[in-house]
Amino acid sequence: MATVTAPVTDALLPVYKRAPMELVRGQGVILFDADGKEYVDFTSGIAVNALGYGDEGLRRAIERAADGLIHVSNLFRTAPGEALAERLVELSFADRVFFCNSGAEANEGAFKFVRRWARSIGGPARNEIVALRGSFHGRLFASLAATDRPGYRAPFRPLAGGIAIAERHLDELAALLNPESVAALILEPIQGEGGVRVLDTDFVQALRRMTKERGIALIFDEIQCGLGRTGTLFAHEQFGVRPDVMTLAKPLAGGLPMGAVLMTEEIASAVQPGDHGTTFGGGPLVAAVALYVLGRLADPALLSHVTTEGRWLGEVLQALKTRNPKIRAARGMGMMWGIDVSDPAADVVARARSSGLLLVTAGEHTLRLLPPLIITREELARGLELMEAALG
Ligand SMILES: Cc1ncc(COP(=O)(O)O)c(C=O)c1O
Repeated sequence: MATVTAPVTDALLPVYKRAPMELVRGQGVILFDADGKEYVDFTSGIAVNALGYGDEGLRRAIERAADGLIHVSNLFRTAPGEALAERLVELSFADRVFFCNSGAEANEGAFKFVRRWARSIGGPARNEIVALRGSFHGRLFASLAATDRPGYRAPFRPLAGGIAIAERHLDELAALLNPESVAALILEPIQGEGGVRVLDTDFVQALRRMTKERGIALIFDEIQCGLGRTGTLFAHEQFGVRPDVMTLAKPLAGGLPMGAVLMTEEIASAVQPGDHGTTFGGGPLVAAVALYVLGRLADPALLSHVTTEGRWLGEVLQALKTRNPKIRAARGMGMMWGIDVSDPAADVVARARSSGLLLVTAGEHTLRLLPPLIITREELARGLELMEAALG
């Protein structure tokens, strides 16, 4: 069936390289375009739609939430945001939560909180934030300064100051993490946009020890890898370490915009009323929906499904690599995989799309698989078949 080319409006700012078809409907892990063509979705709206499409429970949660208040302002108390914060605290290392509206905003908030904390114990000279080579933390000025993508950064300089990018080497980090000047180290336990790079457990554990010894805050950006995607509720559970601060977003409110910064009491105790804020953050509608979604994502049955099917997926990808010379490497965990391919990844994505599979890239020669967490083995197999055909 021919792919519909929806009329392209000139009214939208053309910052995205959009695929030509217009998506109109979804069910489970399948999306449909305006022409009725089906796509197996291995993107989940870039790690957002963990529950897939057309989820009846999510629809009902949104309906129930819409019966209540939609927004009032953070000048007043509302129950859903309080309940969601309490649930996140129960489920994590954290004592306090700040809500915002996106991943980049969560990281910007985290940077402010760690600077506030570092200044309170070490004076104004302790303000630097260190991020890692290959990182992606967002597109706003501070999160962009912590993002290792020259093409995203160059046109917008000057970026926020006091933010450095370090190689993923312990020796270099040991030299750079000066407790007189550094407030925090931020890392993604699994770098997403940077190629689905699972950091070594030893490396992450050594960085935890080093930051603790030096009194430097450790921030985990789990915006893409967190909330069930690896098979544990938080990705850092796979590494046996706990951060001081963690940022979440993407799947948190089931596709409604929401971000969160989770932190220990020590960091939180330095933050004063008036230090930070946002109009929409943690509003009653979005928080009520997130409370429902969090319940689903924290369900041990879902997490064990992600673990089991993720292991199977990993085995199939390794087998594929052995028989297909176009695949150079496959790495990942749970429902988050990167596949290095010899062809330009964008070409494979385009071929896959025309045969009915949605994929994203993570670099010029890396395909990224981020299927909904509810995907079945049969659906995974169907997508993998289409992927293999698209590889040629
Ligand atoms: C690890 C990570 N951090 C931050 C962000 C930025 O999130 P947002 O696009 O919601 O601003 C992303 C988005 O892809 C991400 O993957």
